[in-house]
Amino acid sequence: MSIYGDYIKSVIRTVPDWPQPGVNFRDITPLLQNSAAFRKLVDSFVHRYQEMDLDAIAAIDARGFIIGAPLAYELGCSFVPVRKKGKLPFRTISETYTLEYGEAEVELHSDAFHEGDRILLVDDLVATGGTMLAAAKLITRSGGQVVETATIVDLPDLGGSQRIRDAGYGVFAVCS
Ligand code: PRP
Ligand code: HPA
Repeated sequence: MSIYGDYIKSVIRTVPDWPQPGVNFRDITPLLQNSAAFRKLVDSFVHRYQEMDLDAIAAIDARGFIIGAPLAYELGCSFVPVRKKGKLPFRTISETYTLEYGEAEVELHSDAFHEGDRILLVDDLVATGGTMLAAAKLITRSGGQVVETATIVDLPDLGGSQRIRDAGYGVFAVCS
């Protein structure tokens, strides 16, 4: 939990039965619409990572971009998008992961990082952890060093953050 974790949690909305019955969807749009809360959110990440000598922020398509871009700006790092399949125009490497029904794929430009670059990987939410883990593996394959993975929301009951830790990557969550 971060310095503003309780406050950030209080401005995230739960939408019951969306996108399907039985799912409680954690909706970050009220947090984004609240300028004071959004500033505190970015500050939470800046506070944790400002002394970590990062080279780049890698952020996951699409909601990871919302936090990744201001963080890269504040920390003076480069910004690298990890995108859903078929969106990146240059040479890519890709990693497939399992969804509840079927498979998905994330892609990275093959020239996104230099060997040994210190990378922070960010997304808005960790549920099963499949997306974050696939992106972390992609960065590792490309020669980057994943310093940590970071998220606004962790849903620990779904086991994703534990799965990511079991694979050897650290997980920081602003709130759970
Ligand atoms: C959501 C969320 C994470 C992922 C978490 O993205 O933004 O990226 O799912 O789920 P997981 O831990 O089970 O992998 P979504 O695929 O809905 O894409 P979006 O950001 O484009 O809405
Ligand atoms: N909120 C946002 N994104 C998600 C969720 C959620 O509750 N579960 C899986 N992806």
